[in-house]
Amino acid sequence: MNLFDVYPLFNIAIDKGVGCKVFDNEGTEYLDLYGGHAVISVGHTHPKYVKAITDQAAKLGFYSNSVQNPLQVELAQKLGKLSGLEDYSLFLINSGAEANENALKLASFHTGRTKVISYKNSFHGRTAAAVRVTDNPKIVAPINDNMNVVFLPWNDLAATKAELEKGDICAVIIEGIQGIGGIKVPDVLFLQALRKLCTANGTVLILDEIQSGYGRSGKFFAFEYAGIKPDIISVAKGMGNGFPIGGIIISPMFKAVHGMLGTTFGGNHLGCAAAIAVLDIMAEENLIENAAKVGDYLMTELKKFPQIKEVRGLGLMIGLEFEQPIKEIRFKLLFEQKVFTGVTGTNVIRLLPPLTLTIADVNVFLERFAKCL
Ligand SMILES: Cc1ncc(COP(=O)(O)O)c(C=O)c1O
Repeated sequence: MNLFDVYPLFNIAIDKGVGCKVFDNEGTEYLDLYGGHAVISVGHTHPKYVKAITDQAAKLGFYSNSVQNPLQVELAQKLGKLSGLEDYSLFLINSGAEANENALKLASFHTGRTKVISYKNSFHGRTAAAVRVTDNPKIVAPINDNMNVVFLPWNDLAATKAELEKGDICAVIIEGIQGIGGIKVPDVLFLQALRKLCTANGTVLILDEIQSGYGRSGKFFAFEYAGIKPDIISVAKGMGNGFPIGGIIISPMFKAVHGMLGTTFGGNHLGCAAAIAVLDIMAEENLIENAAKVGDYLMTELKKFPQIKEVRGLGLMIGLEFEQPIKEIRFKLLFEQKVFTGVTGTNVIRLLPPLTLTIADVNVFLERFAKCL
């Protein structure tokens, strides 16, 4: 059997990782400024993380959601504490798309409405509802194309207000920082006004923090920069440091009804062990503060390169926009300088390293980056 060929692949097989470094199957070392697409939060193969999963696998890998799972409770308590959302509740699934799928479903159950506001250049995932609120018609299959969604310009308060005041909007879904859209940070004043407008019009505010959350922005959630509290927050990626787990964090205004949401694998014992280890490591090693500090340094240094048109982002979620396509720079970085980075569109390099990145790692990166320009 062959693999279904949907990914353009680099001819590199990564088979080992330690901290912010990965190694291919020939032993070549790479600096990981990509984190496997913003997934690696506490670093590759962190010993505490490895032990937590190994111990749990030796004890119990899985049992169903029909019995008590104290690990889910521990995860929810620790997540509430670290994010400051102790009065919110947690529903666990396995991926980002599933998180947004459940967020939209819950919003619709709650409001009885069906129409959703999303933003231009958004990416929310590839399942039925998540892909429909994603602004990329190429990945919306005809079978997904029946949800009522309006895509508004990023940061456009007047358009958002006009749409919300029609009174029929179920939910607004917005990324904490647009990732695939090119690392675009929403204006603080826009988010604050959006929060008020959603409340005034009975609309659920969903913050997709799948890429920007879990410390990446230098705060636990990127929306904290605006001092707001969303109604639902979707998380995944960094939550499990590579173990597939996602969740929605739900404000106390929602009433849970048995059976309204559910999943076989979501919240399984192994996933919870991984996610608890991630939170413990984040707290013990002050990784949110580290992301803020190292991210600031990295952005300050990058702004000194005249070849870059714009450096934007927060913490360790950084976009470098060039006037010209960046394919060649990225290839040089990878194949000559052995540095993994990400890309969005044709002209933007994305940096999404593990949150354990050090100033010394940044200096190595800057030296290698300079050689590629
Ligand atoms: C902001 C955002 N939302 C949702 C998703 C979908 O997550 P997943 O690929 O885990 O389904 C992604 C993935 O890149 C994302 O960046």
